[in-house]
Amino acid sequence: MRTDTLVVYYSHSGNTEKIARIIHAKVGGMLQALQPVTPYPQVYRAVVDQAKQEIQAGYLPPLLTKIPDIVGYNTLFVGSPNWWSTIAPPVAAFLSAYDMAGKTIVPFFTHGGGGLAGMQKEVIRLCPNASVLSSYTAHAGGGRDVETEIAEWLVGLGLVND
Ligand SMILES: Cc1cc2nc3c(=O)[nH]c(=O)nc-3n(C[C@H](O)[C@H](O)[C@H](O)COP(=O)(O)O)c2cc1C
Repeated sequence: MRTDTLVVYYSHSGNTEKIARIIHAKVGGMLQALQPVTPYPQVYRAVVDQAKQEIQAGYLPPLLTKIPDIVGYNTLFVGSPNWWSTIAPPVAAFLSAYDMAGKTIVPFFTHGGGGLAGMQKEVIRLCPNASVLSSYTAHAGGGRDVETEIAEWLVGLGLVND
């Protein structure tokens, strides 16, 4: 268990939060949800439309969540749902708000059928001076084997012992 580890995520409907909690149970450290100042609408059509506009405009929503002790975290697990084939704007806002130089970023994603799409590339683009490791990607909240898959992914990255 590591104290220099942060598991940080945005989740609109709970899938990415579920994966974040599984990862956190295995790696320890701090678990932190990202909360935008203005929450996204719950109505699916409304959030889909708003997200499309924000992503097209490159809009980074202000976040209520602040991580004042970011300097103390060397490894950041960063979770996002797939929104229009990229990361959700609150996650882009988080990655843009802090200096990630020298940190290890471990992305994890959930999607509704579109898979990884441009998400990993976007994390790399926003954190050019970080070491961005291979991500874990789940369909919705993951299948029956989600716990095992995550355990194997972490072992493969050398982040936990088997
Ligand atoms: C605004 C919005 C856009 C989405 N765009 C995509 C997409 O382009 N491709 C895809 O596979 N899933 C898409 N989805 C589905 C989500 O990625 C999927 O349901 C995800 O697991 C939700 O995670 P959450 O429960 O943590 O919010 C979209 C969902 C929303 C709300």
